[in-house]
Amino acid sequence: MRINPHYLTLPKNYLFSTVAAKTREFQIKYPEKSIIKLSIGDVSRPLPKVVVAALRKASTEMGQVKSFRGYGPEIGYPWLRQAIANFYTNLGVHLADDEIIISDGAKSDSSNLLDIFDRDATVAMCDPVYPVYLDTNLMLGRQPQFLHATAENNFLPLPDDSIKADIIYLCNPANPTGVCYNREQLQQWVDFARRQNAVILYDAAYACFIDDNSLPVSIYEIKGAQECAIEICSLSKMAGFTGLRCGYTIVPKKLRTKEGVSLNYLWQRRQATKFNGVSYVVQRAAEAVFTQEGLSCIQANIAYYRRNLRLIGATLQKLGWQFFGGVHAPYLWVRCPQNMTSWQCFDYLLQECGIVCTPGVGFGQNGENYIRLTGFNSYTQTRAACRRLLRLQKC
Ligand code: MLT
Repeated sequence: MRINPHYLTLPKNYLFSTVAAKTREFQIKYPEKSIIKLSIGDVSRPLPKVVVAALRKASTEMGQVKSFRGYGPEIGYPWLRQAIANFYTNLGVHLADDEIIISDGAKSDSSNLLDIFDRDATVAMCDPVYPVYLDTNLMLGRQPQFLHATAENNFLPLPDDSIKADIIYLCNPANPTGVCYNREQLQQWVDFARRQNAVILYDAAYACFIDDNSLPVSIYEIKGAQECAIEICSLSKMAGFTGLRCGYTIVPKKLRTKEGVSLNYLWQRRQATKFNGVSYVVQRAAEAVFTQEGLSCIQANIAYYRRNLRLIGATLQKLGWQFFGGVHAPYLWVRCPQNMTSWQCFDYLLQECGIVCTPGVGFGQNGENYIRLTGFNSYTQTRAACRRLLRLQKC
C-alpha cells in the first residue's frame, strides 16, 4: 500500500478545522467565557418560508407511491436548470439549461473540476486565497503560481505577462478579502485568458452580495467569457443552504480546448460517472429559491447581513483599524492592530473579547498581519461583538 505522497505536502489541518479546534480548546479552558464567532462564513438566517414549503411538499411526494422518485438525472432536474437559466436571462446572459450542472456546492465543484484537466496543467491563484483551491492542487502535486493580492493593488491583482497558467482561479467577490473586481478589470482577465488559451475557474459564491448595478454579477456579462470561463455558484450564502447543500456550475458549450473538445461534455461525463446528483427534495428547495418570493426573501436576508457588516465596519473605524471589503461581500479583511501577526491577533481577540476570527495567514503568506471577520452571525451577536471590540479602546 502506498499513499498519495502529495498529501504529505499539505498543511497539517484544513484552516477552518484548526480555528474550530482552537476555539473548542479555549471553551474547555474558560467555560465561563462567552464566545462570538465571526470566523467561518456560515449563515445564521433560517431558510425562506417558500423553501421550507417546497421541502415539505417534496418530502410528502417521496412518501407516496405515485410521486416517489429514485435516481434523478446526474446533472440535475431540467426544471431546476431551467429556473436558473431564467435567472441568468434577467442578467442579460443566455445559457442553455444543459450548460448548468447542479451539484452539492461550490467547494466540491471547485475541487472536482480538476479531474477534467491534464495532470500537468499549470495553475494560478491569488494569495491570499480560499484554501480549497490551493489544497486540492497540492493534493495533485501541483505548485500553483500565486497572484499577489496586497494592499498596494487593493487585493485585486490583474493579469500580466509573467503569469503562465492553464487554469486561473478567480473568486469574485473575493474570499477572504471581500473586495470585488469591476467590469473593466474582469474584461482584462477574460482577454488575457483567451490570449493564453487558459480557462478561468470563476467562483461566484458571494455574487449575491454585490451592491452596485455597475458591477457584473456573472462573469458571462463580460464579452468573450463564455469562451474561457467556468462559473461556480452556490446557494449556501445566497439562500442559507450551507446545511442543505446545493450549487451549480456553468460550463458553456462554447468553451472548447485547442483540440476542439467540449469541456461541457467532459464535465457531464465526469459527473455521470462519479456523482449521483443532488436529492430530489433539495432540488425542489433550490427551485423555490428562484421564484419571485424566494428571491425577495433572499434579499431580506442579505440586507440583514449587510447591516451587520456596516456595524462591524463602523466599529473598526472607531478603533482606527484599517480594513478592506465588507461592501460587496460578507467578509471584512482587517489589518491587525499593533503589527500583530494573524495568529497573535486571533489569540488576542479570543482572550480579550471572546471573538473568534479567521487568521489571514491561513489564506496565504500575503494574509499575514490580517484577520478576516464575517457579517454572517446574528445581529444581536454582532452587536455584542462590536461592543466588546470598542471596550479595547479603553484598555
Ligand atoms: C469560508 O468561511 O471561507 C467559507 O464559509 C468556507 C466555505 O464556504 O467552504
